[in-house]
Amino acid sequence: MTKRVAILISGGGSNMVALAEDMRGDHPARPVLVLSNDPAAGGLAKARRLHIPTHAIDHKPYGKDRAGFEDALQNALELAKPDIICLAGFMRILTPDFTAKWAGRVLNIHPSLLPKYKGLRTHQRALEAGDSEHGCSVHEVTAELDDGPILGQARIAIRPDDTAETLTARLLPMEHQLYPAVLRRFAAGDRTPVTLQA
Ligand code: GAR
Repeated sequence: MTKRVAILISGGGSNMVALAEDMRGDHPARPVLVLSNDPAAGGLAKARRLHIPTHAIDHKPYGKDRAGFEDALQNALELAKPDIICLAGFMRILTPDFTAKWAGRVLNIHPSLLPKYKGLRTHQRALEAGDSEHGCSVHEVTAELDDGPILGQARIAIRPDDTAETLTARLLPMEHQLYPAVLRRFAAGDRTPVTLQA
């Protein structure tokens, strides 16, 4: 049976586009919803152009009321009935209550070679540590931030003249290869990690 995929975004949505454009033909899944916590997220217009239903739930009016925000998220997701939720540049931290409800069904892409550099400023932190390589990871989402079983990683070499900007620019196309490759396997029930090298 074709799997239903909801994609959660906060920004430009380039990973969302890569996922959606791959979900065609013999792909075992189809996008059913693109949901953003920011009504101004650029990715919402991109999703509409791809004819994917969109929805925005602005997190700001909820303030510190994470449970209230997640209730709204939960309602939207229950209507869309996804089998899989892909976080794609979704910059809100989800509570353990939420991750427990969707356990085993939520994937995230993170711009580091996890378990290194959970959280923010990952490119800068890889440079400051003097690392010779950097990369991105797709993992299953659990209650811990940027934790959970790793389902794929893509690696790039760090060059002596790299900056956070050049690393971002070289890594993003790798994210766009990695996430669709992982989702394709995951939707088919295959959790064998995907490994890519630039
Ligand atoms: C991507 O680089 C993704 O890895 C990162 O945000 C960017 C979103 O870009 N995600 C995180 O940092 C999550 N902690 P996009 O909106 O163009 O896909």
